[in-house]
Amino acid sequence: MKIDALLSPAEIQTLPRRDLAETTCVVFDILRATSSIITALANGAREIFPAATIEEALALRIKWPDAALGGERHGDKIEGFDLGNSPAEYAQNPPARIITTTTNGTVALRACQGAREVLAGALLNMGALVRRVNAQPPRELLLVCAGTYMDAALEDAYAAGMLCALLADQPRTEKAAICKTVYRQYQNDSRGALEDSLNGQVLVRNRRREDVRWCARESVYDVVGIMKEGAIRREDV
Ligand code: MLT
Repeated sequence: MKIDALLSPAEIQTLPRRDLAETTCVVFDILRATSSIITALANGAREIFPAATIEEALALRIKWPDAALGGERHGDKIEGFDLGNSPAEYAQNPPARIITTTTNGTVALRACQGAREVLAGALLNMGALVRRVNAQPPRELLLVCAGTYMDAALEDAYAAGMLCALLADQPRTEKAAICKTVYRQYQNDSRGALEDSLNGQVLVRNRRREDVRWCARESVYDVVGIMKEGAIRREDV
C-alpha cells in the first residue's frame, strides 16, 4: 500500500480526471463536515448524501423528500435548511436520511466518487479508520485534506498525519510525510492543533468553541462512513 495526500482544494478539483480504481480515499474535513457526518452515523443516521452545491442538495431533496437538509455556508446554517454543521446537532437522534452541503468537505467527498472506496475521516473515528484500512489495505491510500475555501487546512493535514502515523510504516509520498510531520509537531495534542488552525480560530471567534472541542476528540466512535452510489452509510469496525 502506498500512501499519498492531497492538501489543497485545487488538487482535489483534479480528482475526477484521475484513475482511482485502485485507490481508497479518506476525506478529512475535521472542522466540521466529516466530524458531523461521523457523529450523525454513530448516533443513528442511516444514510447521508453529500452535495457539492445548494442547488444539488435541493435537487436531492426532491428525490428524497423525507431527508433533512443540513450543512453550512460561511459557517452558518443555510436559510431554509433544517440543520447547520455543528456536530452536536447530529448527536441526539439525528434524521435517518440527511442531505448535506458544506463549503469544502462535501465538495471533496463528491470529487472522490470514482475511487475504489471513499471513507469519511475524522479524529472522532480514527481508531476505526486504522482498523478498516488495515483489514482491507488498498493499493493506494489517498488522504484527501478538504481545506478551507481555496486554502489548505492545518487540522485536516494533522488528522491525515495521525492516520499515517498509526498505520504501520508504508511507502509514502512527500505530501503524506508533510502531514505526518504536522501531526508529530503537535505530539498528539489534537485540541491544540485545532485551536491553532485558522478554521478553529474563526469558530472560537464565532462562539463555537464547543464545536472545536467536539471535533478534537479521538476515537470516540467505532464506525466508519463509506460512500457508495452517492450515499455515506455506517460500517461498524
Ligand atoms: C467545510 O466544509 O469547509 C466546513 O465543514 C466548514 C464548516 O463546517 O464551517
